[in-house]
Amino acid sequence: MEHSPRSALYLDPDASVEARTRDLLARMTLPEKVGQLLQLDARQDLVDIVSAKLAGSVLHASPTRMREAIALARRTRLGIPLLTADDCIHGHSFWPGATIFPTQLAMACTWDPELLQQAARAAAAEISATGIHWTFSPVLCITRDLRWGRVNETFGEDPFLIGELGAAMVRGYQGEGLCDPTAVLACAKHFAGYSETQGGRDASEADLTPRKLRSWFLPPFERAARAGCRTFMLGYQSMDGVPITANRWLLGDVLKGEWGFTGTLVTDWDNVGRMVWEQKVCADDVEAAALAINSGNDLIMTTPEFFQAAQTAVARGLADERQIDDAVRRVLRLKFELGLFEDPRAPDPERQKAVIGCREHTELNLRTARRSLVVLRNDGSLPLEGGLTGDGLGRAVSQGPPRTIAVVGPNADSPQAMLGDWAGASGQVDWLPDGQPSELVETVLDGLRAVAPADWTVTHTRGADIEVLVPDPRGPFWPDGQPRPPVLSPAPVDQEQLRQATAAAAAADYAVVVVGDTIALTGEGCSTATLDLQGGQIALLDAIAATGTPTIVVLIQSKPSTLPDSALNAAALVEAFNPGMRGGRAIAELLFGLIEPSGRLPISFARHVGQQPVFYNQVRGQHGDRYADLSQDPLFAFGEGLSYTTVTYSNLVVRDQNVPANGTVHATVRLANNGSRPALETVQAYVSDLTTSVTWAEQELKAFVQVECPPGEAADVDIRIPASHCSLVTADNRRVVEPGEFELRVGPSSRHERQLTARFRIQE
Ligand code: NOJ
Repeated sequence: MEHSPRSALYLDPDASVEARTRDLLARMTLPEKVGQLLQLDARQDLVDIVSAKLAGSVLHASPTRMREAIALARRTRLGIPLLTADDCIHGHSFWPGATIFPTQLAMACTWDPELLQQAARAAAAEISATGIHWTFSPVLCITRDLRWGRVNETFGEDPFLIGELGAAMVRGYQGEGLCDPTAVLACAKHFAGYSETQGGRDASEADLTPRKLRSWFLPPFERAARAGCRTFMLGYQSMDGVPITANRWLLGDVLKGEWGFTGTLVTDWDNVGRMVWEQKVCADDVEAAALAINSGNDLIMTTPEFFQAAQTAVARGLADERQIDDAVRRVLRLKFELGLFEDPRAPDPERQKAVIGCREHTELNLRTARRSLVVLRNDGSLPLEGGLTGDGLGRAVSQGPPRTIAVVGPNADSPQAMLGDWAGASGQVDWLPDGQPSELVETVLDGLRAVAPADWTVTHTRGADIEVLVPDPRGPFWPDGQPRPPVLSPAPVDQEQLRQATAAAAAADYAVVVVGDTIALTGEGCSTATLDLQGGQIALLDAIAATGTPTIVVLIQSKPSTLPDSALNAAALVEAFNPGMRGGRAIAELLFGLIEPSGRLPISFARHVGQQPVFYNQVRGQHGDRYADLSQDPLFAFGEGLSYTTVTYSNLVVRDQNVPANGTVHATVRLANNGSRPALETVQAYVSDLTTSVTWAEQELKAFVQVECPPGEAADVDIRIPASHCSLVTADNRRVVEPGEFELRVGPSSRHERQLTARFRIQE
């Protein structure tokens, strides 16, 4: 074996990736190979991780530890560079001062793949300047149960929309390809079915059949694989008794076989260990390591025991070294393609200065936040005063008398609530305990103060608290080393806070009440049993409503909550989810009419937690359509969102009603803006397959088009849907188009009563 590899072929940048990989693999000992498959937590002992366990990859390296890790890798026998990864979920989460965009759920409200591609590109420019090669984003799980803590990380509930937005983010992250120094590897996660929880409980056994997976859970992943996403992360869950880490059918037959995926897999956090201590399908680490290797996994995240266990598994004949070689090849190929042997892509202070939080990115962030806001109700009070003009410097100008706005609510001035999960303070890393610098975050209060006309008065009182947090009596960490979230109880109603807020609202011309949830009610291990606004918030909304002051309710929350009448009957209701660093300004601009509302819901809202699940594309065939004590109608449906004008739909025409199986459904619909303000309308096209050989969703989104609608104008909009997309999954698991009658439904949302319909027929 070559011991002084300075002249080795694998170090020759002119040799092909295949030749270099072959050469390097041939030089590696079994411990070196197994080490390449480890992705370990860089907050632990780096010498142990990189020099002793020879880890090929690390995650969660703080800015200071990143350089140390890279240097240690250089000093290993073969000098194989590290592949560095982190959760840069909506911006570079854990880099102080990075641009933090709206959360994925908030970004999904834009329904704008092009914009999301730009956001991912900007994030990649920031991430790549800090020595990170790989982001664990985007999440392609479909939301099913709103109680799940990770709803905020998804693009909502629809597989088609998720696929479009996910593929756009993959393109944005991976840029011009891996040789582009600003590219980062994207990661489609969590493959697949993780979001099918029981009762919203995180990572519970997912009750999914292969058919249900193929029908709705897999399509966004297939889309990402075909869009060239280079890595996939597995979920945590098991399905039908099989932990995802051991699911050969999904990893092998489907992903690598049918979809031809040649990229690299990574498990989720200690998935291999979990098969021993959580799912209890393996007696010990050796058995678990063998099962993971034999099932086709590549990188093993944060299971340090895998280092010894995998070697023992080979020695005992439980795992085949050739399988390990295959996995190592996939890891090495990435490193060669990224050019890490020539340039480890270490942190670059010059580039950091130029790109992190740069003006171009914060402006893009503001544009994204503006587009993410969804107006859900409006009695005409918005825009305030009929809409103000801007002074060209970002402030609104009013021609009328000066006004007072009372801003109240626990999320009115909460920087962390603007950012949401995966933004420093969310507990995943230890070097940003207070989150991103709060002076970089514009809260709703900041936004209103900055944008309100100079002669208006903006007052602020908190009005209510959301929760009381106490440390979990079982200790600060889970057995797998991840932080255990504090235990939460709803905050009691604080009469003095309530009195101050009510007095402020009563004395004002308008009240803006900002309610929602907090980071403690969000994320991994933080599913909620209720969807109600917690703590003193309902009492606050009721008390403000009782003042009679026109009230705008702004929701800053990780996921849809159920809402009291005092919120639903307010003058206006605006959903912002977690709108990112610039969210406060965007909200203020929206309220004053400096921008037009254009966001549409990527997710349905429940009226009551017991209505779960409320996603729009449910399978038909139930007895009746309501509970005895409640309708099944969602509070707000997938696709909904208002403009400051009325856009009407008419004249839906299918151009040729007989569509060949390899043809395209081509329709037009007429839009007319009857109001005096412009709109950006998201025209949504759903298809209902009228008779199917198996039960199927009543309707599914198949296309959407965003159209600028100037006031007073009308235009015809083209809709095109490939007939091949009008498919279903048969009882024997094949995705096919069943020829016959279909209904095209076009409108502003998934609500059937708002849609125009036209028939077409797909021919044999
Ligand atoms: C666990 C989460 O489920 C996953 O989404 C994340 O990427 C990893 N931890 C790494 O932090």
